[in-house]
Amino acid sequence: MAESHRVDLVAAFPPGERRIVVPFRGRAGIGVFNIAGAYHALRNICPHKSGPLCTGRVTGRAIATAPPSGRPLDDAGYQIERDGEIIRCPWHLWEFEIATGRCLVDPTVRVKTYPTAIEDGWVVVYADEADLPPQP
Ligand code: FES
Repeated sequence: MAESHRVDLVAAFPPGERRIVVPFRGRAGIGVFNIAGAYHALRNICPHKSGPLCTGRVTGRAIATAPPSGRPLDDAGYQIERDGEIIRCPWHLWEFEIATGRCLVDPTVRVKTYPTAIEDGWVVVYADEADLPPQP
């Protein structure tokens, strides 16, 4: 059964920030992200080779605007879409959609997500007891 865990006060957890909930005894924990006021939680284990996914860079998708041979030299040739909605694993740079856990490199791969809520002014994550710190 899922247990709840208070991550941080809403007032102290603004858009663009993240918190890592670390259970104990070296478990990987859960990354909680505030994307434009919506809170999302992911397991901090990359499904590729078990890297610490949620410690990676939060970024967007680079989308090509033209083939390399068809653009002027002063044009970078790409634009960033969905900035702040993608997490890039620090180990081999696979990218995941934070809101869904879907891998952008391989759509058949997904990282576990957890429900979040706002309760009494706190950001709360729901997860199995083994994934959370011990209750005080
Ligand atoms: S462990 Fe995350 S991309 Fe390889």
